[in-house]
Amino acid sequence: MKNYSKAALLAATLLSASGLSAADGGVTVEHLGTNNTLVRVNGDSRYVIMPVQESNDDAKVNVLVDGKLERVMYVRLAKSKVDYTVPFDLTPYKGREVVFNIVTTQNRSSVREAKEDACWSNFALADTFDTANREKYRPLYHHTPLYGWMNDPNGMFYKDGVWHLYYQWNPYGSKWQNMTWGHSTSKDLVNWEHHGAAIEPDGLGAVFSGSCAIDKENSAGFGKDAVLAMYTSADVSQIQSLAHSGDNGATFTKYPGNPTLTLESEARDPNMFWNPETKLWTMVLAHALDHEMLVFTSPDMKEWTLQSAFGKGLGCQDGVWECPDLFRLPVEGTGEEKWMLICNINPGGPFGGSAAQYFIGDFDGKTFKPDTDADGKVPTKWLDYGKDNYASVSWSDAPEGRRAIIGWMSNWQYAAEVPTTQFRSANTLPRDVSLFRGADGQVYASTAPSPEVNALRGKPVVSAKGVSLGRKAKAYSLPKENDGVCEIELTLNPKEAKTVAMTLSNAEGNHVLMTYDPAAGTFSMDRRESGIVNFSQEFPAVTTAPVYGTGKELTLRIFIDRSSIEVFGNGGRFAMTNLVFPDAPYSSLSLASEGGQAKASLKIYPVLVK
Ligand code: FRU
Repeated sequence: MKNYSKAALLAATLLSASGLSAADGGVTVEHLGTNNTLVRVNGDSRYVIMPVQESNDDAKVNVLVDGKLERVMYVRLAKSKVDYTVPFDLTPYKGREVVFNIVTTQNRSSVREAKEDACWSNFALADTFDTANREKYRPLYHHTPLYGWMNDPNGMFYKDGVWHLYYQWNPYGSKWQNMTWGHSTSKDLVNWEHHGAAIEPDGLGAVFSGSCAIDKENSAGFGKDAVLAMYTSADVSQIQSLAHSGDNGATFTKYPGNPTLTLESEARDPNMFWNPETKLWTMVLAHALDHEMLVFTSPDMKEWTLQSAFGKGLGCQDGVWECPDLFRLPVEGTGEEKWMLICNINPGGPFGGSAAQYFIGDFDGKTFKPDTDADGKVPTKWLDYGKDNYASVSWSDAPEGRRAIIGWMSNWQYAAEVPTTQFRSANTLPRDVSLFRGADGQVYASTAPSPEVNALRGKPVVSAKGVSLGRKAKAYSLPKENDGVCEIELTLNPKEAKTVAMTLSNAEGNHVLMTYDPAAGTFSMDRRESGIVNFSQEFPAVTTAPVYGTGKELTLRIFIDRSSIEVFGNGGRFAMTNLVFPDAPYSSLSLASEGGQAKASLKIYPVLVK
């Protein structure tokens, strides 16, 4: 037991009699009732540090500045133990009186009971917040938030040599809440700088997903080349709001006339672009529960006219439609151009939960007309054949006509349960989209790792050509540094083999089995014994992709980054993204074939980041 002085004990008794708790680390705690407590900030430190216990319910934290309600956040304040802490930045309120008026929801029999909560003695003030990585599953070369929860990437644009990535972020905990646009930037799409919050919740609600574009014509009146952001303000309703930035997306000013668009039903994730042909802004909005996308146009980003609705009864209808994107691309090897409409869907993905479907067709500025197959039906197409690529959308204004996309590397089925704490969720590798015509006459999207990713390759640790594969597996070691993060480049010629098996494994007995079945034209990945899988019954899974073959030879690029495996086949004609949580990093790749001999060439590159 600590050695308290008599005076301290007396002070503590007096404080407790008055409902006050001992000031700890610069805050004073005053209990007003069984579920209501004031935390007063004394002094001018940079942060209030809030203690979180993930299994607890959210407390409503009203932040009062000079007696006025400044903002509200929901934080799982600790009851019996502190899992981790989160910072609230006091910088904007320097020299002013800051008080947190906190309302908890737990059942209490008395104030005395409420006082015992672990959080009260763990509120503190600090000038720094340690964001050094504490997670073995944090990827090395994929984008992650420094701390807190992340879902959809959104609002991405490219300007003056910089790729801007915003994301759905909870700065106050590692589960979904307090949706804010976090902001990161990169000059090469793989090394990211973190800038914290760019657009924060307000009286209209949390800041859900949306998009950004550069106003080259000053059509909205916020200045030529202003960055415009459209997002969903989400509270009881979902309405669309506008914000603009004159400093290249570092800070945004919200349009005082918000909301700019309201509907009576759930609609979200506005994705807009300037259409030079119609000289109008064009926005696709997810009419989530109606399983369709709405197309609006506007001359100025403020007045919107509904032009059409797309999708009722088409594609996969098994979940809400979210996070759309619409753009035009050339079809490889033809003089043709086609429009691609991405419609993320949750649940209803090919392997359960969240996934990204897309449609190819034509767009006349008002209406999207999908291509049909030989039977006159609109085929369902998937961007990725793993379980962990959701909310894929593209960067606007990317250079050289590029269409680079990135997805949230998780699945709503279990994203909040994955075994990390300091942060939850990473993004996929950036991918460049192109279109190709398949053997069935349909146009498909190919998603290959963006060329910037090639710069991550170190000197290969394995380089083998024309290796004969049979039943007896041949094993290759993965790089030792950085927990074996790597890229594997493989060319498989199955010859007479029925299947070719590629197995990642470690000394703990965890393994991931990937199988190429040339006759079926499929590639599959089995993560049922990949490591920790029991946090959700939806996690153990086998995922299978069509190979869209180029003959029987299959080329693969397989990226491993601590807790993810991404596979790109035949130059991106299929992609498969799956999370894994091995007990120890995978240390070996073994190759074997069944039913006959196959040939393989492979290189294993360590991944080096700056
Ligand atoms: C998709 C989504 C979006 C919404 C956001 C909220 O994952 O549900 O529709 O804007 O997440 O964080």
